[in-house]
Amino acid sequence: MMFRSAAVAALLALASPVYAAKPATDLAGTWLFAPSDDYPGLRMMRLSRGATGWQGMVTSDWYGDLRMRGLEVEGGSLSFLIDNGNPRLPARRWTAEPSGSGMHVTGDIWHRHVDTQVRRGTPADAARLAFPTYPLPAPATLKPDGQASTPPMEWSSWNHFAAAIDDRTIREIADHLVSSGLRDAGYRYINVDDGWQGDRAPDGTIRPNARFPDMKALADYVHARGLKIGIYSSPGPKTCAGFVGSHGHVAQDAASFAAWGIDYLKYDLCSGEGLYRTAAEVKLAYQEMGQALRATGRPIVYSLCQYGRDRVGTWGRDVGGHLWRTTGDIEDTYASMSGIGFDRNGDPAAAGPGGWNDPDMLEAGNGGMSDDEYRTHMTLWAIMAAPLMLGNDLRTMSPATIALLENRGVIAIDQDPLGRQGRRIRKDGGAEIWAKPLRDGSVAIALFNRSEAARPVAFTAEDASLKRIGSLRDVWAGVPDNPARRSWTLPAHGAVLLRLK
Ligand code: GLA
Repeated sequence: MMFRSAAVAALLALASPVYAAKPATDLAGTWLFAPSDDYPGLRMMRLSRGATGWQGMVTSDWYGDLRMRGLEVEGGSLSFLIDNGNPRLPARRWTAEPSGSGMHVTGDIWHRHVDTQVRRGTPADAARLAFPTYPLPAPATLKPDGQASTPPMEWSSWNHFAAAIDDRTIREIADHLVSSGLRDAGYRYINVDDGWQGDRAPDGTIRPNARFPDMKALADYVHARGLKIGIYSSPGPKTCAGFVGSHGHVAQDAASFAAWGIDYLKYDLCSGEGLYRTAAEVKLAYQEMGQALRATGRPIVYSLCQYGRDRVGTWGRDVGGHLWRTTGDIEDTYASMSGIGFDRNGDPAAAGPGGWNDPDMLEAGNGGMSDDEYRTHMTLWAIMAAPLMLGNDLRTMSPATIALLENRGVIAIDQDPLGRQGRRIRKDGGAEIWAKPLRDGSVAIALFNRSEAARPVAFTAEDASLKRIGSLRDVWAGVPDNPARRSWTLPAHGAVLLRLK
């Protein structure tokens, strides 16, 4: 169906009052979607006609009020655009046409096609279904709190388990972090990602779902093993996997986390991108939780996850963040890992003690890459001083995976107290040379072969900003090598990591 402009519709209304006036009065008011837990949780449409023409709003559980843009009314039918769950994406067109005593509504949002019916509601329905708004805090700058002096080392549930997690699995993972030796290699946080949340109590307190019967007991269990525990939420009403987020309950949730003994929070924008529509609003939403965490008095590492937008490295610390994602989600493929590791790892100038670029969690051990590719993954993350977040099932690791994850020399480069993020020094076709200065005056050099065939890769003393190289260590092998050696033959997608003095 073609839609004429609002001006044409207004002229038609004048020329043909009998035809046009009736739908006008019919359409105004509240239209109810059938209640559903499905994404995007459509609640209602509201339509009104003012001096400037028709206006409307679609209200959803995920994104709150989405304004109808370019709204055109013809007869009893509507056509309009709404933001696609995210103001950065092209808007999507929806239509509503008379159907029985209601309207038939079709449109698209994010990955979902909507094809449903609305029926008339009352002002009381509109009040009941109204989406609440909460003020954001005034801009403030939080002082450093001394946490995360080196990049956090942890295990996180998401890459392997997604939302299929429970108390028992988390306890088993904690046990295996200890028994595998990985705790003693430096991995300290057990982070429960999306999927632990249940509902809210009548007073608004967040409750875990049935798979997590007692969060405090779980935290005690983890703490008793010399580990710390992390949890996950969102500034939006819904998390990315559709669980309840902290919108409207920020201080209350921070207090719950602290009372349970939580030591780390990953705060994921998710549906908040529909509500917080400008970079300034997103920053304030993160600041709000940063302040709430500080107000608990408990040291809680704060991980910002808004996919590296809005130059987050320039303001992540100011809102209390200790790490911030530089990218969308990693996948267990060489293409995904190398795309992030080589090119979307954040501005090195932003990283240092107390605040780190987070190129997302490790996939090592999940099976989608070759041993050489996983070695490249660990080498890249170490040379860029990235947080090291294990993402595999620690209960079924092979000895080779443990060896990959626990190499003390590699971890020492990642965790070097100088806290400098390494950079690419040179690129030569598929060969790359990266360098990271270390606290004791030595330099880590990583050589990479990004091509599809084995090839030699060489570095120079100038690449390392060293006049003379007195000692050279092959970090993965854990052995000294000839200080005069400059070239290594690397397998396809392979890497070597050196420590020079
Ligand atoms: C987003 C994040 C992931 C993970 C999921 C959970 O995609 O980027 O790291 O936390 O949400 O739903």
